[in-house]
Amino acid sequence: MVRAYGGVLVLADVLLLLLKILYYIGEGIYRLLVPVEEKSVAGEIVLVTGAGHGIGKELALKYASLGATVVCWDLNQQGNEETVNEIKQISATTKAYGYKCDVSKREEVFKVAEKVRVEVGNVTILINNAGIMPCRAFLDHTPEDIKRIFDINVLAHCWTVQAFLPSMIQKNYGHIVALSSMAGFLGVANVAPYCASKFAVRGLMEALNEEIRSLNKEKTLNINFTTIYPYMVDTGLCKKPRIRFPSIMALVSPKEAVVEIVKAQRRNIRELSIPACWLYINILLRCAPESCMRSIVDFLDSGLETES
Ligand SMILES: NC(=O)c1ccc[n+]([C@@H]2O[C@H](COP(=O)([O-])OP(=O)(O)OC[C@H]3O[C@@H](n4cnc5c(N)ncnc54)[C@H](O)[C@@H]3O)[C@@H](O)[C@H]2O)c1
Repeated sequence: MVRAYGGVLVLADVLLLLLKILYYIGEGIYRLLVPVEEKSVAGEIVLVTGAGHGIGKELALKYASLGATVVCWDLNQQGNEETVNEIKQISATTKAYGYKCDVSKREEVFKVAEKVRVEVGNVTILINNAGIMPCRAFLDHTPEDIKRIFDINVLAHCWTVQAFLPSMIQKNYGHIVALSSMAGFLGVANVAPYCASKFAVRGLMEALNEEIRSLNKEKTLNINFTTIYPYMVDTGLCKKPRIRFPSIMALVSPKEAVVEIVKAQRRNIRELSIPACWLYINILLRCAPESCMRSIVDFLDSGLETES
């Protein structure tokens, strides 16, 4: 009798699961046609790491133009101050604060984070953007190179999340965005440690999302995670890009990339590649035999040449 009852419960669970799967597939298709409305970021406190140049700088300018208070972090004080000054010129009401911070140093991250809490307030949107990409054959990377790549591209994300997530949990509110890369999905020659670091960011963000989901049984926590996978953005980070078909695989401008990143964050999208199609193409190709994937990679003949 007890066994039969248990069987009925499992059957009911399976039916419920099938209904949920159908519902979420339907919702996914509907959302492709009618995207979620973008939430307002006015009044949010947005912290951007690596705000002194490239994507980080454009992100800081964009969030400020949308009415957010922006906190700019960078190792490069001059670039960071330029970003803060440009934000202050947008309008009399835009608010920006600049702090010199080497995000690879845990103690420094905690010290500057506390300063931000006292001087600006609790960060509600954290954007882990700072990153480096030395480009050379794996055996030519020095041990210092490899450690620095992981310190900045991976461990810095751990330190900033540990510094800012507690106040988000306490207030039941926040958003963490991370810049991974398409190199976090696909191995690329001459940037092996960089690829490994971007795969790690993808894993970290997926695991964090799961951890918060498991804490959030009562659905009271409104904390979201967005991971971005750009292909190549024209910031100078890719020093010697090799592109066989520039008309269809051209470098995206930082401004164009930022429009997509901010849209994804405001729509609570979990993962986005830039251009968006790469994520889906990659998933489809992973289902095909390995040799198909390699043939397409050879045909496209795109990648990164080593720096001299
Ligand atoms: N540009 C691309 O083609 C591309 C493609 C995929 C992913 N990404 C990722 O996007 C992010 C931004 O790239 P970008 O092209 O704007 O780079 P960028 O070199 O133009 O800017 C990076 C900024 O980070 C800062 N920075 C570096 N180390 C730091 C540290 N230890 N502490 C604080 N700040 C530090 C630099 O001073 C610089 O201002 C990176 O994580 C990168 O890996 C870029």
